[in-house]
Amino acid sequence: MPSSALIRNRLATAIRVALVAVVALAMSLAAAPTAQAAGGGPSITKKQFGTLPNGQKIDIYTLRNSSGMRVKILTYGGILQSIEVPDSGGRFANVTLGFDNLSDYVKKSPYFGCITGRYANRVAKGRFTLDGKTYQLATNDGPNHLHGGTKGFDKRVWEAHPVKRHDSVGLMLTYTSPNGEESYPGTLRTKVVYTLTDDNRIRMDYRATTSRPTIVNLTNHAYFNLRGEGNGRILGHELQINASRYTPVDKTLIPTGKIARLGGTPLDFREPTAIGDRINSENQQIVRGGGYDHNYVLDSRGRVLGLAARVVEPDSGRVLEVITDQPGLQFYSGNFLDGTLRGTSGHLYPKRSGFALESQHFPDSPNHENFPSTVLRPGDVYRTTTIYAFSTV
Ligand code: GLA
Repeated sequence: MPSSALIRNRLATAIRVALVAVVALAMSLAAAPTAQAAGGGPSITKKQFGTLPNGQKIDIYTLRNSSGMRVKILTYGGILQSIEVPDSGGRFANVTLGFDNLSDYVKKSPYFGCITGRYANRVAKGRFTLDGKTYQLATNDGPNHLHGGTKGFDKRVWEAHPVKRHDSVGLMLTYTSPNGEESYPGTLRTKVVYTLTDDNRIRMDYRATTSRPTIVNLTNHAYFNLRGEGNGRILGHELQINASRYTPVDKTLIPTGKIARLGGTPLDFREPTAIGDRINSENQQIVRGGGYDHNYVLDSRGRVLGLAARVVEPDSGRVLEVITDQPGLQFYSGNFLDGTLRGTSGHLYPKRSGFALESQHFPDSPNHENFPSTVLRPGDVYRTTTIYAFSTV
């Protein structure tokens, strides 16, 4: 029989072993962001994110690729809720602005990460004429219609279906907008497929068909801060946009109809330039936008799937490229953020702590003959692709 001293000794050893195991487990959990990079094929998981006031349940899907990049998508608004990418040292951070709860998305989101439609951006006075008939949309942005109206695609619940391939993982979202919803004509059947590839790209494929002639302009409205959301302003990000022209705006941010040259203006980003360098310029367009809030006419003119913009954040080394087949790109420097919203990681979002690069047709196209058409007719298929490609320098 072992003596009581021996028993005490064995007990002490067992406690020490258990303690070491607990500490090791805690350390491995703390190291989780780097452990993300450790192998495993692409995966997709689903959890409940919250419940809408009407009782509808909203899910959050987590897509993960083989290199550890993670993207979270909500069935509410098709929102990109989180995008975790590595910096040049392999440290992951969430680079998109958002909230950690559904209620904030419902009550106060300035279009964080959402699918924006039916008509992304502005329609002057909410009015347009198609085939001789005039339609009046909601005026939810001063005198104008913005981002699909009072309850646009950003506030709808999308049906979700996971899509898995050997080198990518995706989520197919569908939403059928009934004829007359938000006063738009035609039943619009919409499909958006988000694909996360192993080379750290988020590919967005949009498709829509209509039962009656209508207008359509879909985009994604993610705000980025490549330092990590909640980690200061975006003024040091170096931006390059492949556009030699833009559509100047009036006081209410509606295009005047001109397609003007960017050369010689503080809006020209053909050479990589820090967003903050000229943002306080006296230029009338910048003053009107309260910073940058302008549609760039891409040199590709939407004829090919090409590089529209490249952003480098010098401290982290993170790079975002926007590749699109759309003719325009709205560059918005987060001028309306005002420090009142508390984001995903609990930090307040000050003015210009996120920027958006919204691939799109030009604002107010239905009222400008000289802009590429946004009309969709029965039998035709609206199709467009935009890619957010992440890398490091
Ligand atoms: C777009 C618009 C901006 C602003 C934001 C949302 O980028 O162009 O003026 O409305 O959406 O706050």
